Amino acid sequence: MNKKGFIFDLDGVIVDTAKYHFLAWRNLANSIGIDFTHEQNEQLKGVSRIKSLEKILAWGNKTILDTEFQQLMHDKNEDYLQYINKMDASEILPDVSRVLDFLIEGNQAIALGSASKNARPILEKVDLLSKFEEIVDGNDVTKAKPDPEVFLIGAKLLNINPEDCIVFEDSVAGIEAANVANMISIGIGSKNVLGHANHVFKDFTEISNEFLQSLIDK
Ligand code: G6P
Ligand code: MG
Repeated sequence: MNKKGFIFDLDGVIVDTAKYHFLAWRNLANSIGIDFTHEQNEQLKGVSRIKSLEKILAWGNKTILDTEFQQLMHDKNEDYLQYINKMDASEILPDVSRVLDFLIEGNQAIALGSASKNARPILEKVDLLSKFEEIVDGNDVTKAKPDPEVFLIGAKLLNINPEDCIVFEDSVAGIEAANVANMISIGIGSKNVLGHANHVFKDFTEISNEFLQSLIDK
């Protein structure tokens, strides 16, 4: 029997929290006189809270004291949590549940690999927590994507070799992390942005059970 490790990013893959991160970061940036574009926002996807704020401050050519830095991270998260608290299962992205159920029925190993420290509460909100055998989130890693640490820990917990793992990711940094980890990278989003992935699909509706089976049989 073939058993592969399927590792899912959360934000922008399972649920569209990327839009909430964007809103919360832009609110915060605007409050300190910085603005950024949707293109720049692509560089924040998959990137830790600390790294995101560092990037935004660099775009605005701003240096601040550490105490203010901590306060801004806290404020951004409070704002973000207001969006998160309203979430329910209707926010699961199309066909994510079908893909998870297909893999579970096929006895595949399934983990979450997210940079977010809010990953567990979000999975609880949308009622998907029980689908994941292992969860690696922003509380478990010391190095942010594009470092492969989050996915390598996931593979280890699943007890599957990295070469036998498949990663679903919507971010440039996450695809890079999966590639460095020697895993099969599947980009969820646009080919223009995620061209460095092994495969790219607009969303899970384009990922057939036959394709999933071909990954399992490889
Ligand atoms: C994900 C998102 C990023 C976010 C990071 C940390 O990777 O794509 O945009 O900055 O998680 O999330 P957190 O919920 O801990 O602030
Ligand atoms: Mg993501």
